[in-house]
Amino acid sequence: MPPDNMNVLEVVHGVVEEHGAKAEELIPILNDVNRAIGYLPKEALEEISRLVKEPKSKLTSVATFYQMLSTKPRGRHVIRFCESAPCHVAGGREVWQAVQEELGLKDGETSEDGKWTLITASCLGLCGVGPVVLVDDDMYGNVTPSQVPDILARYS
Ligand code: FES
Repeated sequence: MPPDNMNVLEVVHGVVEEHGAKAEELIPILNDVNRAIGYLPKEALEEISRLVKEPKSKLTSVATFYQMLSTKPRGRHVIRFCESAPCHVAGGREVWQAVQEELGLKDGETSEDGKWTLITASCLGLCGVGPVVLVDDDMYGNVTPSQVPDILARYS
């Protein structure tokens, strides 16, 4: 369910109006709606499909392809962990272990209190400072396992 007090159709209409109801704006539209609601509920996809005149199947495949988008509710904070080779060899495996242990979650899971969602990502384009962890829009580079609790403690 979208957050209480949020009108999904209003959000969709506002975003589509801003971008224009054009097929080439599909990804920015999906991205903005996802950002506003936290994910892409079924009713949002249906309304975007109707307005942009693209089949819902196409929207669903775009939404499942891009890691930034989700068709399922996510936690208040989304942790993206780079699992590509350069980060991995720089100590990423140990950091990933520490994140999972600290939260008691595995890849793709959301905590029961709705606070965290943990997902792995391929290269985040920040290989020079790997291992890299992204919490929402905050990037942490050169992360060590011992820093993980402090990083997570910054989020309420
Ligand atoms: S390999 Fe991790 S950011 Fe590029």
